[in-house]
Amino acid sequence: MRIFLDTANIEHIRHAARLGVISGVTTNPTLVAREGAGDFKAAILEICSIVPAVSVEALSLDAEGMKQEARKLSSWHENIVVKIPVSEAGLEAISVLSRENIKTNFTLCFSTNQALLGALVGATYVSPFVGRLDDVGHQGMEVVADAVEIFSRYNLPTQVIAASLRHPLHIIAAAKAGAHVATVPYSVLMQMIRHPLTDIGIARFAEDWKKVVKQ
Ligand code: E4P
Repeated sequence: MRIFLDTANIEHIRHAARLGVISGVTTNPTLVAREGAGDFKAAILEICSIVPAVSVEALSLDAEGMKQEARKLSSWHENIVVKIPVSEAGLEAISVLSRENIKTNFTLCFSTNQALLGALVGATYVSPFVGRLDDVGHQGMEVVADAVEIFSRYNLPTQVIAASLRHPLHIIAAAKAGAHVATVPYSVLMQMIRHPLTDIGIARFAEDWKKVVKQ
């Protein structure tokens, strides 16, 4: 399973890329807005220079607008993946865009049926939103596991991104469910690295080594 970073924060992306653990970034309008107003295209191009897959959301609600937006966004850089929300218009748009080899991420996916339809129209990725499903009392990870199983059984090349992940146990569950990708908030990535026993162990080794150096 690969890890993408779920953020538009350039410092966080640079840091995670330096660690060598991320192979993509997912953004959405909320994450972009969190970084404040600025040159959106320049920011996306900078992210594209750091990682090989960058999801950017199309905001049109009709199929024609989605297609036009997707063509424009994907012309900015070969690393751009256009996020298209689940809807009839989204399916119509992706079925055309996939034939034009434009990479897409079928987003705001909350059911296995939605994921299956995304794969049938040729989406590059589908993104079940695990945390938001958990929030309303469903087992979000079941959509990830079911989509992975179905895509594998029918040799559908669409990859499943476990999205809307909120804590480190979500990442383990996504990996066990066979997700191709987990898109992870920066804070959760940091939590994945840290363990109090590791900190205690490093401190103790450093202390003990001082005794060796003194001799
Ligand atoms: C994924 O592509 C989305 O940007 C993201 O995972 C949504 O997460 P949230 O439910 O925490 O907003």
